[in-house]
Amino acid sequence: MGQPFGSYQNEIYFNGLGGIVPSYPMAFAELEERASAALPPSVWSYVAGGAGDERTQRANVAAFDHWGLVPRMFVGAAQRDLSVDLFGLKLPSPVFMAPVGVIGLCAQDGHGDLATARAAARTGVPMVASTLTVDPLEEVAAEFGDTPGLFQLYTPTDRDLAASLVHRAEQAGYKGIVVALDAWITGWRPRDLSTGNFPQLRGHCLANYTSDPVFRARLAHTPEEDPQSAVLLWTQLFGNPLTWDDLAWLRSLTDLPLIVKGICHPEDVRRAKDGGVDAVYCSNHGGRQANGGLPALDALPAVVEAADGLPVLFDSGVRSGADIVKAIALGATAVGIGRPYAYGLALGGTDGIVHVLRSLLAETDLIMAVDGYPTLADLTREALQHVA
Ligand SMILES: Cc1cc2nc3c(=O)[nH]c(=O)nc-3n(C[C@H](O)[C@H](O)[C@H](O)COP(=O)(O)O)c2cc1C
Repeated sequence: MGQPFGSYQNEIYFNGLGGIVPSYPMAFAELEERASAALPPSVWSYVAGGAGDERTQRANVAAFDHWGLVPRMFVGAAQRDLSVDLFGLKLPSPVFMAPVGVIGLCAQDGHGDLATARAAARTGVPMVASTLTVDPLEEVAAEFGDTPGLFQLYTPTDRDLAASLVHRAEQAGYKGIVVALDAWITGWRPRDLSTGNFPQLRGHCLANYTSDPVFRARLAHTPEEDPQSAVLLWTQLFGNPLTWDDLAWLRSLTDLPLIVKGICHPEDVRRAKDGGVDAVYCSNHGGRQANGGLPALDALPAVVEAADGLPVLFDSGVRSGADIVKAIALGATAVGIGRPYAYGLALGGTDGIVHVLRSLLAETDLIMAVDGYPTLADLTREALQHVA
């Protein structure tokens, strides 16, 4: 049987007997509020904000309210098993940390990527490290401990640079490459526009580029001598508007599992599957990229159906254990946490992330216990009812 994630609540209640209450928030609303006070305003608006009037971002969260889990009794779900096999990776739970570029800046010491990797090591919850990090991908991977990590590629327009990033990730021990397809261009983000703030243009979170031999070879002077030219080159190389013709090349770059992120249409699932990907990742980037879109959760069932047995990763709007349970019941193989862990990091570094993850896992586990669904396989579409 799996890890007793629900026992986190025993720890908290026993501490309470000794007069100690948790230092970190137990409810998402408080987590968000306290993070907004802890982060510098520009970082807060970058992390919390989304595209347009943020309707899609809010709809991502609200979509979970349209489903309810039906409790089953006399199941005796005394032990639960949340473990999952994800393209060969044996994970204690279906939860992972979604790639968050600029997570580095959310830590008080400015090294949030390392803090996140350490939280992965402590919890067994994998980190998907973004291309946009404060610390190079090798240094991030060095903190993973025994927990596998994945590397999220923003595919540069320069194919040699793309290959170099992927090969560095392989060398550093990453266990899969997640190619983000939905952010080769930045969506319209009024909060950031109103302060004229785009962190990468200020030279932030470009360590994977400035440490890369191919990137460095394209510069007349080193990034240390001439940081502005490095930023300029980055703007020229960052976003590649990939087409289906590029998939065979992406596939040829690595033997690691290849996962494509941002897939919401069943036809795209089928084409990606035909192109040899190992998993699809259903997400709308947390509503940060295009407003006016469907909540990602509403796209999930058709994606799962088209995937036809291929693993489906999911994120966008997950705020609680109940949300994790619902995403699994709608067919997700693994569920990504985004903003909540960024907020945990802002409040308490690695400890803050560990608290957020343990809370989410405890709630997931306890819902499965109370409602009589002892394994992930028990959580099927039949476990849910649609709520108008
Ligand atoms: C501040 C921020 C930065 C992000 N950066 C990346 C990134 O570098 N690469 C990527 O694939 N997704 C990125 N995402 C999207 C997340 O991986 C994930 O899809 C999203 O956070 C899910 O929405 P939620 O946080 O509202 O649950 C970012 C999200 C946030 C909030």
